[in-house]
Amino acid sequence: MKTVIDYIENNHNRYLEELKEFLRIPSVSTDPTKDQDVRKAAEFVKGQLTAAGMAKVEIFSTEGYPIVYAERVMEEAKPTVLIYGHYDVQPVDPIELWETAPFEPAIRKGELYARGAADDKGQIFIHFKSAEAFMNTRQELPVNIKFLIEGEEEIGSPHLDQFIEEHQDLLRSDVGMISDTTMFARGVPSLCYGLRGLVFFQLDVQGANTDLHSGSFGGTVVNPGFELSKILAAMKDGNGRVMIPHFYDNVREVTERERQEYARLPFDEANFKQAFGLKQLSGEDGYTPLERLWVRPTFEINGLESGFTGEGAKTVLPAKAMAKVSMRLVPDQDPDTIADLFENYVRLLAPPSVHLKVTRMHGGKPWVASLDHPALVAAAEALKKAFGKEPVFQREGGSIPVVATFAERLNIPTVLMGIGLPDENAHAPNEKLDLDNFYGGVRSSAYFLDELSRADL
Ligand code: BES
Ligand code: ZN
Repeated sequence: MKTVIDYIENNHNRYLEELKEFLRIPSVSTDPTKDQDVRKAAEFVKGQLTAAGMAKVEIFSTEGYPIVYAERVMEEAKPTVLIYGHYDVQPVDPIELWETAPFEPAIRKGELYARGAADDKGQIFIHFKSAEAFMNTRQELPVNIKFLIEGEEEIGSPHLDQFIEEHQDLLRSDVGMISDTTMFARGVPSLCYGLRGLVFFQLDVQGANTDLHSGSFGGTVVNPGFELSKILAAMKDGNGRVMIPHFYDNVREVTERERQEYARLPFDEANFKQAFGLKQLSGEDGYTPLERLWVRPTFEINGLESGFTGEGAKTVLPAKAMAKVSMRLVPDQDPDTIADLFENYVRLLAPPSVHLKVTRMHGGKPWVASLDHPALVAAAEALKKAFGKEPVFQREGGSIPVVATFAERLNIPTVLMGIGLPDENAHAPNEKLDLDNFYGGVRSSAYFLDELSRADL
């Protein structure tokens, strides 16, 4: 491996310049005015994968943004890894909070700042570059590689499942690899073996057909802001438990072994509170903060709107109220079942005096992997070699729905080897990627491919 690792070492600057070029493309998938840029990012990925020596590189169009597929199959008998990532990024607002422009990559104190630096352009780059390092030194790869890079992850991957469904043969592999998560902490390489699932809803409550004077009408005309608040308040009790009937029916209890493992992780509650200006942590009674994040489901209000929210006072009785809410799910909760339970409960709670519209949006299934899969063992060994430290095993509170699709449609386990950091500011202003982690990530990816070639899959 020395020549490959040396090659990586000698190419740090070029990697950085190429990643910057990628980051300059404002591929915001939620913004229709960025359509051409999102497509440009797909072309850029194609160029990278071609330069990495992939034998076949193809852009598949979908009804949305294209999927870039590439492969290099060395020998049928070798293990095949399917590397997934996304080239689209989140919107940049509030733009005024960025210290430097989001699409003009800048380096400060060893960190590269730009939208997409961590989520996910910088992280997919580590795999582009490790493949390239093998091809440019050995003219071959230790395993077969397939790349599946999409452009709609940040809008809930509306066309990905169908693509996977229709291309099961093309995508056939032994293991999935995704770098789109964070390390437990700086200097603590991590492998993630569990993700929460998600169901997302918008609730629209309508009272009168127009806003009204709250003096002339308040008291006899329903207030949708108040009614929606009551509905939302009924979602959780005072002990942080979700009150939707049967919500917990299929929740798998955390095992004693996991509890012990989590208790050993260096979670610093005081630091955590201080970082976010919190007076105290909140959540479900009887569980530690990490358990609440990783193995317990939750209900959140993501957005709330009603009436007058401008400066000063306005005595108005609003006609409408709107909330965006979501539930993070854990194994074995099923998003469709939970969605039905939620909708029934909301309809039960809504008084007959209002019109209620319930709209279900995107979502995904929760997932948890077995810790002794040989590919995970290979990844642990790779991280140890690349970062000089044993990795920790953790779950994440976030969601990557494709992982469950890989398990169900392609019948493969997935390794989540993220090199982001908890303070990377993904989805927020001043997103960044630690450059040492980036180069360590390229090494990890290279060691992983090497370890995988000897794994007994
Ligand atoms: N990279 C994240 C997933 C993630 C978040 C992993 C936090 C680990 C910790 C991904 O890009 C993302 O934001 N996913 C969405 C999924 C949704 C749009 C279906 C999420 O978790 O909200
Ligand atoms: Zn994201």
